Amino acid sequence: MSNPTRHVDLSASAAPDLVPDVTALNNLVVTTAPWAFQSLYVAAKLGLADALRLGSRSSDDLAEEVGAHPGALYRFCRALAALGILYEHPDRIFSTTAMGAALRSDAPRGLRHFIIVNGEESFRAWAEVMHSVRTGKAAFDHVYGMSHFAYLALEAEASTAFNAMAKSGAPTEAVDSCDFSEDRVVVDVGGGSGGLLAHILQRNPELIGILSDTPAGVEQAAELFAAHHVLDRAVIMGGSFFESVPNGGDSYILSRVIHDWNDEDALRILRTVHRAMSPGSRLILIDKVIPDTAGFHPGKFSDLQMLVVLGGQERTLSELTVLLDHAGFRLTDVRMPEFGPDSPWAEALIQAMPVDSGERKMS
Ligand SMILES: C[S@@+](CC[C@H](N)C(=O)[O-])C[C@H]1O[C@@H](n2cnc3c(N)ncnc32)[C@H](O)[C@@H]1O
Repeated sequence: MSNPTRHVDLSASAAPDLVPDVTALNNLVVTTAPWAFQSLYVAAKLGLADALRLGSRSSDDLAEEVGAHPGALYRFCRALAALGILYEHPDRIFSTTAMGAALRSDAPRGLRHFIIVNGEESFRAWAEVMHSVRTGKAAFDHVYGMSHFAYLALEAEASTAFNAMAKSGAPTEAVDSCDFSEDRVVVDVGGGSGGLLAHILQRNPELIGILSDTPAGVEQAAELFAAHHVLDRAVIMGGSFFESVPNGGDSYILSRVIHDWNDEDALRILRTVHRAMSPGSRLILIDKVIPDTAGFHPGKFSDLQMLVVLGGQERTLSELTVLLDHAGFRLTDVRMPEFGPDSPWAEALIQAMPVDSGERKMS
């Protein structure tokens, strides 16, 4: 008798004959269940990678420093070693692997703050993911009775963690490919605490930067600009991009903003920016772009995160092009990131100019 797994027919009609691969599914479940992710959250929140910066330590020693139960922390460290985050040595001694070192607070584009944010209020929103599946709306709003950004305006600790996440994940590679030599003023709309703008100002010493975000978003901006020695060339403006954004920019950056919103709100933001621009100024839009092809792409998962937490979405290039078109922009340049092991989360950079004919209604 022939083995049905030997001759795999990929046509849809073959599906009923597939042999269920329980082992593969089991491995996927174990490594993607909250057990694994929330263990990463424990490591991130307690700062285990920072505590192991100088070398290996016993889990008892770590537990004392971070204020954990020694037996419980040992079990988490053992599981983190099974995930490849820590090395487990004899006698309950642990050290970080290279992957674990990416959880250090100061690792460039490190994931410590990202994991903390996703292990806290976002995680509670994900527990109600069915609300998003059934309604197409953010589960976060359903759980907390307010939007994520309204929550951040009220919860200082969560806002600080969110800003730290945005700063450590700022898409500096994307803007490094951008030429600012013709610009005098750059406006970063929804620029958070200014990590990306500070980076641009440092690399372009003639440039003046205007940071525009909510009052909660810009709270730590002056400190950040001072630490980067660019405070004298930075203007900080608190306000809502649904109302207005500063005039007078040669370039307007919208980095990882549009994906936070549904089409209607994204269009409102683009139109506000359009109104502030003069004919020669350009829009620089930075977001992940979902490919039209099947297969793995991280954007397909951050798209779900946008839905569940914010009611937003990641978009394909054609979806972004339609949105820009309806807001009165003409796409002039697209730089897709190289999707490979070194840049798995990278964003694309899209440049657009206002169309002279002005805004058009979305059909
Ligand atoms: C995902 S973060 C991106 C931050 C930054 N541009 C970056 O790429 O790191 C989205 C930003 O939009 C800001 N935001 C949300 N609602 C806003 C509003 N109504 N007006 C201005 N900014 C807003 C948030 O405070 C946050 O800083």
